[in-house]
Amino acid sequence: MGESRRQKSKRLEQETAELLGLATAPSLPKADEAPGKVSRAVKAGEAILGGDKGLAKQLEGALRYAERVERYTHGFHSYPAAFHPDAARDLLALGEGRVLDPFCGGGTVLVEALAAGRDSLGCDLGAIPCLVARARVTRTDEAARTALRTGARAAAEVALRAQVPPEDAPPDVKRAYEPHVAAELQAIRGAIGNDPLLRAVFSAILVKVSRRTSDTHQALTEDERPEGTTATLFHKKAREFARMLETIEPLLAPCRVHREDARELRLDGFGMVVTSPPYPGVYDYAPIQSLRRYWLGVDDSSTLRDEIGSRRSFRAGRAEALAAWRADTGKWMKAASRALEPGGRLCVVVGDGQVGAKRIDSWTVHDEVARALGLRWLARASVERQDVGLGTVRWEHAGLWEKATAG
Ligand SMILES: C[S@@+](CC[C@H](N)C(=O)[O-])C[C@H]1O[C@@H](n2cnc3c(N)ncnc32)[C@H](O)[C@@H]1O
Repeated sequence: MGESRRQKSKRLEQETAELLGLATAPSLPKADEAPGKVSRAVKAGEAILGGDKGLAKQLEGALRYAERVERYTHGFHSYPAAFHPDAARDLLALGEGRVLDPFCGGGTVLVEALAAGRDSLGCDLGAIPCLVARARVTRTDEAARTALRTGARAAAEVALRAQVPPEDAPPDVKRAYEPHVAAELQAIRGAIGNDPLLRAVFSAILVKVSRRTSDTHQALTEDERPEGTTATLFHKKAREFARMLETIEPLLAPCRVHREDARELRLDGFGMVVTSPPYPGVYDYAPIQSLRRYWLGVDDSSTLRDEIGSRRSFRAGRAEALAAWRADTGKWMKAASRALEPGGRLCVVVGDGQVGAKRIDSWTVHDEVARALGLRWLARASVERQDVGLGTVRWEHAGLWEKATAG
């Protein structure tokens, strides 16, 4: 006979206790039974709200943004499953002090922390997201922006005369580009050297000029790109980026980006963690960057190895992948909780996973782990949302917890 629901819940509690290094299994209340000023979870239209009503409404509002936003450096570089900028802004307003995003991706939370005048740190395992996030929060003066425009123009001029595609490109890269496009990219790469802002601009056009349908879809189209348009797009993108960078020049708050594994962070002194960890079994963050990895010459082997909740791991074996993802969730949440000052707040946005026809409930795992860590649950909202990258609809959850004050 299979495991009963009660047995299963007991087992999950025990597993959570073990992975968090607790001596005994914590007694976990159900998602809609939190102490203090809370209401039961209620289903409102397609939303499930729980905890403090006002906070839950704010979380719901953050999950519902969909309009394209152009302010600051948002929109400079695409990134899969990125926060909506307005959501990041609103979620940051639910706490105070220094901000940590342990899964910073393209850096949406960091840009909004900067705009709010708050000291911030973003971490990500991937070399590409770190390159993008760093570029998006770089404060430049007019001279640096002129150098960006001039450097891009010079590289584009060389690329306009380029004839020879790279010989060392792996087959998937060769297939993804028409030969004249690869030749122009090769020339741009040679001309920009190690300049971080020009490399970020280069990164921003690599999928657009390829035959790939999008960042998240590897299928190739037959679309043709006229000669010279890769070079001109690069130059145009650099001018656009220079204009965006000008808008963040007056924003003075310190902001750093570290390439680190969220499970291994040893940090403290943060007033707030705002983050969106990988959804279980939904994306392969490292493999989808294969074109950028080649052109930018970055070593992403640690990302390929240590990525949390990857789609490929779930395809290889659902039960093992689920157990690993649960354990990884425990590890990063423990590190994030340790990073918080007493009274600090943790805000997590995460979507359900989908493996084959089966849904993976992300909310319950995060909720259980947070409670096992002794974090006080304040509010939650769950809504059905369109995943633009994958063209599917899934439940997304936002949860807010608070670390106990000392004494
Ligand atoms: C949902 S995305 C974050 C998107 C981000 N909020 C944004 O606005 O662009 C999740 C990120 O987690 C990163 N990641 C996966 N495993 C990680 C790990 N073990 N440590 C740190 N980052 C990891 C991926 O590289 C990816 O960038």
